[in-house]
Amino acid sequence: MPDSVPSFTLVDVPGAVPLLGHLGAFKKQPLQMLSAWWHQHGDAIRFRLGPKTLHLFSHPDLAEEILVQQADRFVKVYDPQRPTGLALVLGNGLVTSSGEVWKRHRRIIQPIFHRSRMSAMADRMAQVGEQRIATWDNHAGRTIDIAAEMMQLALEVISQTMFTTSMTQHIDRISHALRVSIKYAFDSFSNPLFLPLWVPTARNREFRTVMQFLDGLMYGLLAERRQSRAQHGDLLDLLLQARDEETGEGLSDQELRDEALTIFAAGHETTANALAWTWYLLATHPEAKARFHEEVDRVLQGRVPSADDLQHLPYTRAIFDESLRLYPPAPALQRKAATSTTVGGLPLPAGALVLIGTYNLHRHPAFWRDPEQFMPERWLDGERPAARYAYLPFGAGPRACVGIHFASVEGPLLLALIGRRYDLHLAQERVEPQLMVTLRPKGGIKMMLQARQVSVMSPSKQG
Ligand code: HEM
Repeated sequence: MPDSVPSFTLVDVPGAVPLLGHLGAFKKQPLQMLSAWWHQHGDAIRFRLGPKTLHLFSHPDLAEEILVQQADRFVKVYDPQRPTGLALVLGNGLVTSSGEVWKRHRRIIQPIFHRSRMSAMADRMAQVGEQRIATWDNHAGRTIDIAAEMMQLALEVISQTMFTTSMTQHIDRISHALRVSIKYAFDSFSNPLFLPLWVPTARNREFRTVMQFLDGLMYGLLAERRQSRAQHGDLLDLLLQARDEETGEGLSDQELRDEALTIFAAGHETTANALAWTWYLLATHPEAKARFHEEVDRVLQGRVPSADDLQHLPYTRAIFDESLRLYPPAPALQRKAATSTTVGGLPLPAGALVLIGTYNLHRHPAFWRDPEQFMPERWLDGERPAARYAYLPFGAGPRACVGIHFASVEGPLLLALIGRRYDLHLAQERVEPQLMVTLRPKGGIKMMLQARQVSVMSPSKQG
């Protein structure tokens, strides 16, 4: 263990009741409890959900030890022999797998998301964004649910970049299937009293039905592509052609299904929530919103944004970074100790369950100036948090987000694309964050859509 790591005291959260532990409070408001327990009891705490004991670590040094320095000792929590939680939905894809399977898949998939490919992807993202918000013209002056809109937009972006297929026709079914399956995954993981899948409850049946639909969708897209043999230059082509540079082998059908669904789900849900929170933050910070619109108007002059424009939109990027700080789509990263070890001087037995509280880290008063304030300008002029691992929206170490470049282009690009045409005003009083694998605004966010008076160049005049 490095000398610089301070020692921590592990505090047991009081109030555990027999058998259930802290499950009652956690089930009602998981994010709020993770935040409150951290505020009350510190950076290294322990609580119980039924028979499971969890450690919540909310300090950059502990995050670095677990995610980076001891990454080989802290594995994902899923067991391919007995899938639980997200693994019930995503199978053995990149997010849920561990060990040699994960290593091989990561080697195959990482090059697909290389930064150098993102410029071409950005053009597609912008095209999809333009088409999607063209339908908004009918809603100008009306109230929309911006969280639902961002989910549909991000879903269409990943559908088009991944499969070169529009999902607009199936969007309601897909959104429903993902909502049901992810809620099921979250509840089955965090609630030890959840009945296993083989028990014929209405909820289990519903889960099986939506999974059949998602499987059919993925296998159908794979079969179609194999038959057509056409080249689309999209993510699916790259996935089908990808070979392990060490063995020369590609992915089997089951592996392709798991990875396609993983990228499809991980690739839109996170970005959509980040965008929804960003519109909320802008709507509640008029000065920042005015500065954002000024930058977008000045740089784009009415043009549709491209990847190259992003370097001239620093404030827009800063807004996105700041939104990821306050509302990280992955507010707690889960790991399991594969062997007994120590972290920050604290002994952990093999099998210990650990959460890295990114939501807490991002608001830690020891590492951020005015941590609760939305201040995009903190990201300008190179200001960075006082500790490297105090900001982890994309995780860190070998399991860091493989789609980081994709998301870092998509987020600011879609913000600029929408901000150039529309102004969004909050049309509800309270917005509550809800942890449901990702961090969502509970019940959506109602916003009034107002068209902006900006000269939009016709496509023929665009270079
Ligand atoms: C703002 C958007 C996004 C955020 C905040 C985000 C966040 C994260 C985080 C925190 C992790 C690490 C989880 C852990 O350590 O347990 C992760 C992993 C992952 N992300 Fe993202 N992500 C975003 C967008 C994307 C996109 C666009 C894609 C794909 C197109 C993607 C695909 C993945 C995959 C496949 C993994 C698993 C990587 C591995 O374990 O090897 N993500 N993401």
